Amino acid sequence: MTPAAEQDQTASAVMDREHAIQTGLVEALCTAVEKGDEPAKVDEILTQLVAYSSAHFMSEELLMRLVSYDDYDDHVADHIHMMDELDQMLALHQTRQPMLVLDKARSALAFLARHIDTRDQRFAHWTPPQRA
Ligand SMILES: [Fe+2]
Repeated sequence: MTPAAEQDQTASAVMDREHAIQTGLVEALCTAVEKGDEPAKVDEILTQLVAYSSAHFMSEELLMRLVSYDDYDDHVADHIHMMDELDQMLALHQTRQPMLVLDKARSALAFLARHIDTRDQRFAHWTPPQRA
């Protein structure tokens, strides 16, 4: 394997791990709300999820910018949508509406899975066009 191919594989493994952590946090949120955990526990997971998602999306967006990725705007629109949903979940949690939080968290899980399988996969396999 060439050094460049090895570097790509490492970057891809890092992204896969970050996606697994982010998805795991949304699953943990669903489980905590389903079990009727204390609001403080739900708050802790939600806060972690917001911080992790923000950092992960920022790093992905930076990588896309570095290579002048051609699907940048649509990809970032998904990230913005996810962060908006997380903000709404926080607001619903703060006003103690667990069933609405759960509904949004389940939708977010499905949205995230679709995003990872489509937009993130496309970016992972995308090669910048060669310059003349
Ligand atoms: Fe993404």
